Amino acid sequence: MSGGIAAYKSCELVRLLQQAGHEVRVMTTPNALRFVSPLTLQTLSGRPVRSDLFSHSEESEISHIELADWAEVVLIAPATAGLLARLAHGMADELVATVCLATRAPLVVAPAMNVNMYEHPATQANLDTLAKRGVHIVGPDTGELACGWEGAGRLVALEQLVAAVDRVTAEPTLAGEVFLITAGPTEEPLDPVRVLVNRSSGRMGFALGEEAARRGAEVVLVAGPVSLPTPAGVDRIDVQTAAQMQDAVLQALGRATVVIKAAAVADYRPETSEGQKMKRGASDWTIRLVPNPDILAEVARRKGSRTVVGFAAETQDVLGNARQKLEQKGCDLIVANDVSRPDVGFNVDRNEVWIIGPATSEVVHVPAATKREVAARILDRVRELRRA
Ligand code: PMT
Repeated sequence: MSGGIAAYKSCELVRLLQQAGHEVRVMTTPNALRFVSPLTLQTLSGRPVRSDLFSHSEESEISHIELADWAEVVLIAPATAGLLARLAHGMADELVATVCLATRAPLVVAPAMNVNMYEHPATQANLDTLAKRGVHIVGPDTGELACGWEGAGRLVALEQLVAAVDRVTAEPTLAGEVFLITAGPTEEPLDPVRVLVNRSSGRMGFALGEEAARRGAEVVLVAGPVSLPTPAGVDRIDVQTAAQMQDAVLQALGRATVVIKAAAVADYRPETSEGQKMKRGASDWTIRLVPNPDILAEVARRKGSRTVVGFAAETQDVLGNARQKLEQKGCDLIVANDVSRPDVGFNVDRNEVWIIGPATSEVVHVPAATKREVAARILDRVRELRRA
């Protein structure tokens, strides 16, 4: 940690990292301890907090080189403009910068500061230098800042930092693959204020994107209108309608080696969209719907050596209907889920799926689990197919 107001959030970060199974030691710049007490950090991490390069009592327990060698990942959150400058210039004038210089572990930094400090050419040049050196930079987010300004400079959500750590420690089993993943609903406008939409939150597709990136794949995520943060390491393209999603998918298809269509694409759209807001009146408003293009079927037609995975959102005869979709759409795998259940499927954190294919008789059942865990099982199956 370095000395910015976001340091208070790092207390919670220690707990989240521990909950994710990591062992955590806290080291801080001297200024960070102006914002949080070492007692808090020590109690949360269960370890002494290191802050002084030259303290005799601290050095007797563990040297800064031993700390540098011990770490499998060094995560700096928050990373102030001052610390970024010291890291970029390889300085070793306090403990955190010195450990960063001495360690061979991957370095993840989460900048957090005033927007003007962040946008200053000096800070931007320092971040460029660090990125070129292979440092993983996560954030910052944009929004209201503790200093009263609005703009870029907020520490990213702590979950994103846990995911970034998770990603840099993961086995790169999907390195070399380019995943094109769709997520979320599509919205079909009726007029400038009303849309036809469905209950998809995008969580299933985002979990797939996050897990594929964690395993070393290059990921392009085409997202309908959802309110989810972009997973670390993922290239995101936002769209609204099915037609826009089709354009984005076909444009990105060229480089993709795996396509996964987790989006809930509207099968129909209004034949016409009103130019102005429809006024309330006494008479009915009849809307004629016309079919949207089937993006998955189109991708499967251009399959080549790609692996194409579709989803089937069913409310009855889940396996039977999904098997039919596998054959009709011509994909390699179809992931069936029951979207009539309140505990899994649409707009919740968990899912239960059946991964069917390439033959309709081949079925892997994934019992109810978090979408992240389900995503991991789907990617295991994709990898088996790729290797075969
Ligand atoms: O987003 P969440 O809240 O996390 O919920 C996840 C989910 C339930 C949306 C997801 O698990 C899921 O089932 N996604 C597919 C939803 C869907 O549209 O299913 P479908 O059976 O109607 O379509 C079959 C396949 O064809 C899907 O891969 C779909 O993306 C694709 N499709 C459908 C219509 C269309 N015009 N173009 C398509 O490409």
